[in-house]
Amino acid sequence: MQSGEIRQRFFDFFKEKGHKYVPSAPIVNNSDPSLMFTNAGMNQFKDYFLGTKEIVDSRVVDTQKCLRVSGKHNDLEEVGIDSYHHTMFEMLGNWSFGDYFKKEVIDWSWELLTKVYGLASDRLYATIFEGDTKDGLERDEEAYDLWRNYLPEDRILDGSKEDNFWEMGETGPCGPCSEIHIDLRTDEERRKTDGASLVNKDHPMVIEIWNLVFIQFNRMASGDLQTLPEKHIDTGMGFERLCMAIQGKKSNYESDIFTPFIEEIQSITGVKYHNKYGPNEKVDTAFRVVADHLRAVAFTIADGQIPGNSGAGYVIRRILRRAVRYYYTFLDWKQPLLTKLIGLLADRFEVVFPELKAQEDFVARVVKEEEKSFLRTLEDGIQRFNMLEVKGEIVSGQDAFLLYDTYGFPIDLTALMAKEQGLDVDFAGFEKSLKEQKDRSRKDAVQKVGDWNIYKEDKSTEFIGYDHTEAYPVYITRTREVTKKNKKVNQIVLNRTPFYAEGGGQIGDTGILVSQSGQRIKVLDTVRENELIVHIVDQLPEDPVEPFHAEINVARRRATENNHSATHLLHAALRNVLGDHVQQKGSLVSDKYLRFDFSHYEKVTREQLDTIEKIVNAKIGEDIILDERREVPIEQAKEEGATMLFGEKYGEKVRMIIFDEKYSKELCGGCHVSTTSKIRLFRITSESSVASGIRRIEAVTGYSALDYLDREVEELSSIRSLFKNPVNVAGQVENLLQENKELIKELEIVKLAKSQDLKKTLLQKVVDKKGYSVLSAYTDGLDSKNLKNIVFEIADQYSPAIVVIGDQSGESANIMIHIDKSLVERYDLNAGKLIREVSSLIKGGGGGQPFFASAGGKNPDGIPGAIAKLSDLIEAQIEA
Ligand code: ALA
Repeated sequence: MQSGEIRQRFFDFFKEKGHKYVPSAPIVNNSDPSLMFTNAGMNQFKDYFLGTKEIVDSRVVDTQKCLRVSGKHNDLEEVGIDSYHHTMFEMLGNWSFGDYFKKEVIDWSWELLTKVYGLASDRLYATIFEGDTKDGLERDEEAYDLWRNYLPEDRILDGSKEDNFWEMGETGPCGPCSEIHIDLRTDEERRKTDGASLVNKDHPMVIEIWNLVFIQFNRMASGDLQTLPEKHIDTGMGFERLCMAIQGKKSNYESDIFTPFIEEIQSITGVKYHNKYGPNEKVDTAFRVVADHLRAVAFTIADGQIPGNSGAGYVIRRILRRAVRYYYTFLDWKQPLLTKLIGLLADRFEVVFPELKAQEDFVARVVKEEEKSFLRTLEDGIQRFNMLEVKGEIVSGQDAFLLYDTYGFPIDLTALMAKEQGLDVDFAGFEKSLKEQKDRSRKDAVQKVGDWNIYKEDKSTEFIGYDHTEAYPVYITRTREVTKKNKKVNQIVLNRTPFYAEGGGQIGDTGILVSQSGQRIKVLDTVRENELIVHIVDQLPEDPVEPFHAEINVARRRATENNHSATHLLHAALRNVLGDHVQQKGSLVSDKYLRFDFSHYEKVTREQLDTIEKIVNAKIGEDIILDERREVPIEQAKEEGATMLFGEKYGEKVRMIIFDEKYSKELCGGCHVSTTSKIRLFRITSESSVASGIRRIEAVTGYSALDYLDREVEELSSIRSLFKNPVNVAGQVENLLQENKELIKELEIVKLAKSQDLKKTLLQKVVDKKGYSVLSAYTDGLDSKNLKNIVFEIADQYSPAIVVIGDQSGESANIMIHIDKSLVERYDLNAGKLIREVSSLIKGGGGGQPFFASAGGKNPDGIPGAIAKLSDLIEAQIEA
């Protein structure tokens, strides 16, 4: 019977008995703070047991993805070495929520195992709870009596609280349980040793397959048991073990759940599997570790937990790294391996856990990134480890420190590898070296080159940002503090970095550096200085020799990548639509927008822009996968017709960015989307001229493009609503503009007429003096243009004259003074000076020449006073 059928028969058996099938809960437990991962089938039903959630179906059947690598149930270090422990395993379960109890569950389990699966009944044992005085619980006589219907006395064994009282964790639902064990040894072995003596003794062939739990209590934080209002059944059968038993195998890994993976690993690595067990069978263990850990890692990521530096993410990272270490060392495989197995895993489990198939590419990518970055660390460290000269079976503190310091090799890994060779590690010595180095570096280890403080001799920075958004460990090679525009700027250089330094039009990355001891340094920008990638940071490291974890602002980078790839698509579209004369003349790619300057002799028409936009959006829709080629010899790139920029200096080896061989092929060092559909949307926001023969297009993509459209639509609808939502809003606006033009014309005429009226009144105030005339007056209703006209007309008409007119219409105040040139000379008058004397009265300013000056201000009420003062000043000057 294949595993698929075994699983299905379990479901069918209980469905016939009125159970409802429910899917597995996610392996990552987000809803229960007392658990990091789902560790038993009953987790998702906890609330039914406690009575805090209303029961809908009182009988349920399922298979649950479980992980026991942290907390109360932790098997990680056993996995791979023996034949029956796993990180992730499937737990088949049937439940009764306040429905049936011990009798039914014992009868049915017997029926299923012996009748449906055909397991030999003389190989089965049952255990029952012996009672516990501390908890005040008696022996489970009821279960014993029920088992007596099927088993002789000597195959029903009493078990202690440890084995026969099941608890989910420190607190939660619990109860006595009865386990079914199976003896899979040969008949000969069975004759020699009684199976009963091997139950619960960690014998690989005498194992528990099914646990029937009679949930009746809640373990409270105080440690006391609280009796639940109802009695429930919770069972868990180890699916992998069950398959081994039914298929007559000696190991879970020999069942068809695992054999396809063992075979695939053999065919990928070329290493043979011999099915041997024990601490010395490293190669075979590596096969099993990979086959097992693959499942835990892939399903956990598919359920939403990304490997990381803390919590559940860190547990997954450790499992993944354990697998990498095994295949790297014992299968001699130096590239990502887990990622190659994800397709097979997704296919094999699609029927029962479709979530992996649905996210196959994503999971494979995450796993690959993780594997790559850890392989790098391992490679250097392991080589170094093997070169150590070990004295007296102990890896010295200095050596452990060297591995840690130079190769970023974690101390627990060193310890593990040492253990495998029967060696110890001098932990105290390691701590001492660590401390010494810190002290040293703080004092004087710093070397100065120019204004740099050098911590590690490195002439260049390795850029790993095409493949990674984070990296650990990275080390600081140099720091400095410079002053730019009176501001202090802190700079850090790392030995390797995922941060892209501004260049090729693309902005520099931002993000964060976190030291092992917890200092968080913000990266505000990244720039290039020859071969160095310089991180502009908010503070310098407290301890520059610690390892750091570097992580870029991923959202900002992704948005920038959208714009960068869109720039390439735009460039190609421009050449298609406008012609081959289009040459890139400059570009800016940020997370907010893109700007592209290019040679073209005339304005790009609205129709052309529309076509260009359509082409780019069509390319986005085509979901073209990025074809990135690194280290291409420049000659080859030229031959292939890659677009190169004039005036750009290219090295011997170049990087090509291709989106469809026939569409866009450019030499480029920037960051790009993995597939064009990531860009989502492309929108041109402006087209303009920058210089003669050079045009500029600005555009937005992704969320910015959606925002842009939103704003446009919002503006349009507010205009529409102003016009009471007409059909043709553009026509309405046109009409309005036309109307406005005509009104302005009419207004001009009215104003002119009014100014002529005002002029007449003003003329009546002209006073004759000896040999000249004086007008000093103010009006209400002249704009400055008409005021000036009138001042000049009167000055002309009464020449020689002194004309002072103020106007106090509306919110503004205006004054103009005209003094005939002959009078300026005769009386030493100066219109400009005079007007400055009064401009404060109208809360404004003014000036001009001796014969003409004007002032404007915000205080119309000051006009009468200002005009009076001017008259006085002029009169006094003339008399003087
Ligand atoms: N909850 C029980 C177990 O996990 C069935 O063993």
